[in-house]
Amino acid sequence: MDKPVYVHRVRYNFSISKLVFWSLIFLGLIVLFFFRSPSSISSSRRVLQSGPDWEKLVRKSASTRSPSRGVRVLVTGAAGFVGTHVSIALKRRGDGVVGIDNFNKYYDASLKRARQDLLKESGVFVVEGDINNAVLMGKLFELVRFTHVMHLAAQAGVRYAMENPSSYVHSNIAGLVNVFEVCKSANPQPAIVWASSSSVYGLNRKVPFSEKDRTDQPASLYAATKKAGEEIAHTYNHIYGLSITGLRFFTVYGPWGRPDMAYFFFTKDILKGKTIPIFEGPKHSSVARDFTYIDDIVKGCLGALDTAGKSTGTGGKKKGSAQLRVFNLGNTSPVPVSKLVNILEKLLKVKAKKVKLPMPTNGDVLFTHANISLAKRELGYKPTTDLQTGLKKFVSWYMDYYSLPRGKSAR
Ligand SMILES: NC(=O)c1ccc[n+]([C@@H]2O[C@H](COP(=O)([O-])OP(=O)(O)OC[C@H]3O[C@@H](n4cnc5c(N)ncnc54)[C@H](O)[C@@H]3O)[C@@H](O)[C@H]2O)c1
Ligand SMILES: *[C@@H]1O[C@H](CO)[C@@H](O)[C@H](O)[C@H]1NC(C)=O
Repeated sequence: MDKPVYVHRVRYNFSISKLVFWSLIFLGLIVLFFFRSPSSISSSRRVLQSGPDWEKLVRKSASTRSPSRGVRVLVTGAAGFVGTHVSIALKRRGDGVVGIDNFNKYYDASLKRARQDLLKESGVFVVEGDINNAVLMGKLFELVRFTHVMHLAAQAGVRYAMENPSSYVHSNIAGLVNVFEVCKSANPQPAIVWASSSSVYGLNRKVPFSEKDRTDQPASLYAATKKAGEEIAHTYNHIYGLSITGLRFFTVYGPWGRPDMAYFFFTKDILKGKTIPIFEGPKHSSVARDFTYIDDIVKGCLGALDTAGKSTGTGGKKKGSAQLRVFNLGNTSPVPVSKLVNILEKLLKVKAKKVKLPMPTNGDVLFTHANISLAKRELGYKPTTDLQTGLKKFVSWYMDYYSLPRGKSAR
């Protein structure tokens, strides 16, 4: 089995240059390892989070279309579903917008990156960072005199709380407090609009849900953290004179939506021929949601920003009382989940495989239904999209985004 002698000799002769070669490769790998953190490996979009180039991007994104228009908004959770739509709408009408998002992997991060591309095309720069990073948040306020903060970053989803409870505390409690801290110290203080949730109504049975109803029986940790947020908002308004508006969104859906929500994964599973579970309440009662189309929610968010009073504090001190508001943003027409599936079947031209299951009591409530008369009066909020129309737009986006052929009739 011995190899011929000359092979060894040839190998020996080349070993010095080989050693140099492999050393260089090795050095190169070390350099690569240190200069590319794990989160940047898949992303060429990453920009250093400091330095003149980065500051220029932030300032440019924050610039308003006309100098007289002084609205500059920091949007947290900007690469999220609602954050993307709100940021684009603000930029489109001429406001200055800077986004921040940590691009966490709660759901497919590539969808967040695709939304970031869309935002970039619209002229919105998204800073990659966590709302808990006080230094970074403070830096943004040094660079830009934000007039408003649209705070949408959060850990969403109700069932995931049993898997990862601390992520809810991290983003929805600690993160919210940090946002308020940075805002109260800013000069001038911005007005804040933030996303609470219809889930604060918890186990309430009286419908429609109105802002004055009790919100002290949350059915999930998610709901409890949103409720806590509303109380924390009260405190910051009271002590520091921050103008704060909480928006209780009701099941928002639409293009660029969240893959963890039923309408989204039902679409995916129906197309794959996978059986979908349809939850039922006690005695086979149906589960219903007040599905609200994203464009209507965006209008409500802009209405809240436009009617927000100024914060009154300076230098971290309250100078007078400031506005504190809470609004329902829903559609006022709850639809049973079975009807949602019927609409999807027609739009997808596929019969769904369904199985009816009793709803697990681990977070979801049986129904939601918004009373929106307060938002109508104060924000001029008036939803105009029914579920059929909205889902049609969602399905059309879905087919495009995942490059799927559009049903049998289209071929
Ligand atoms: N979509 C709905 O039906 C609905 C209903 C009620 C309330 N809400 C609330 O509306 C807001 C927006 O929801 P969405 O549906 O767009 O969710 P989303 O998950 O798509 O968007 C949230 C974004 O925030 C980012 N984020 C999370 N934690 C962060 C942190 N610590 N630092 C920086 N970024 C962070 C995420 O990466 C994500 O891109 C959330 O506050 C959510 O709780 C949504
Ligand atoms: C909706 O809320 C308003 C107060 O904002 C109240 O006056 C009205 O009666 C409520 N409507 C219903 C149907 O409960």
